[in-house]
Amino acid sequence: MRTSIRRVAAWGAMAAWFASGSAMSATCGPDTTYAPTSDYSLTFRVCDNSFVGTVTARATGWVAVGFSRDQFMPGTDVFMAGVLPNATAYGLDAFAFLRNPPVPDPSQDVTLLSAGESNGITSYTFTRLLNTGDSRDFDLTDGAYYILAAFQSTSDDLTVRHSFSDASELTYTFAPVPEPASVLMMLAGLGLLAGRLRRGF
Ligand code: HEM
Repeated sequence: MRTSIRRVAAWGAMAAWFASGSAMSATCGPDTTYAPTSDYSLTFRVCDNSFVGTVTARATGWVAVGFSRDQFMPGTDVFMAGVLPNATAYGLDAFAFLRNPPVPDPSQDVTLLSAGESNGITSYTFTRLLNTGDSRDFDLTDGAYYILAAFQSTSDDLTVRHSFSDASELTYTFAPVPEPASVLMMLAGLGLLAGRLRRGF
C-alpha cells in the first residue's frame, strides 16, 4: 500500500512537471505563429501570466498587432511600434475605437523588450500581462480573440493609415502557464496528501 501511494505520488509529480512544460522551457507555453502573408508574422507564447510576441514585417514604418472580438478594426486593442530613421525604438499601447488612428491608452501597459530595423524589415518583441487591469486593454484570459495585423510600409507617423491590414481566420485563447514555484507548491501539496494517506489521515 505504502509503495503504491508513493508510486502514484511520484507519477503525479512527474506528470505535473511535464504538463507545465517546466522540464524543458521554464515557464512558457508553446509558440504559435500567425502569418497572414510573407510580409508579416507574429510569433507568440504565454509565459506565466504574460503574453510575449515577436512581430516581423517588411516595413520601415509602424508595425502593429491587435486583439479584437471580431475581425474588424473598430473595438480593437492595439500595440503599434517601430524604429525611427535615427534608430530610436518606439511603442504605443492604444485602442482603435473606429477606423481612425487608434487613441493612446492613458495607461501604457505594454513593454517593448527589443526592436530593430534592417534591410527594410522591422522586428520587435513585446510583452504585456494577459490581464493588465486597464479597461482599455482586453483581458486576454477572458474568452477568444481574433488577432489583427497592420503595418505602414514607410511611415512611422502613427496617424498614417496602414498599407497592409488583416484579421486572423481563427480565434485564439490565452491561458496562463504556471510558474515553477506554483508547480512546486502543487507537488508539496501532493506530498502532504501522500503522507496523510499513508498515516490514514
Ligand atoms: C493610423 C492608424 C489607422 C488608420 C487611419 C486606419 C484606418 C482604417 C480604414 C480607413 C480602414 C478601412 C479601409 C481599409 O481597409 O483600408 C481600416 C481597415 C482595417 N484596419 Fe485600420 N487603421 C489604422 C490602424 C490600424 C491598426 C493598428 C490595426 C490593427 C492592428 C488596423 C486593422 C485594420 C483591419 C484588420 C482593417 C480591415 C477590417 C475593417 O474594415 O475593419 N488598423 N483601417
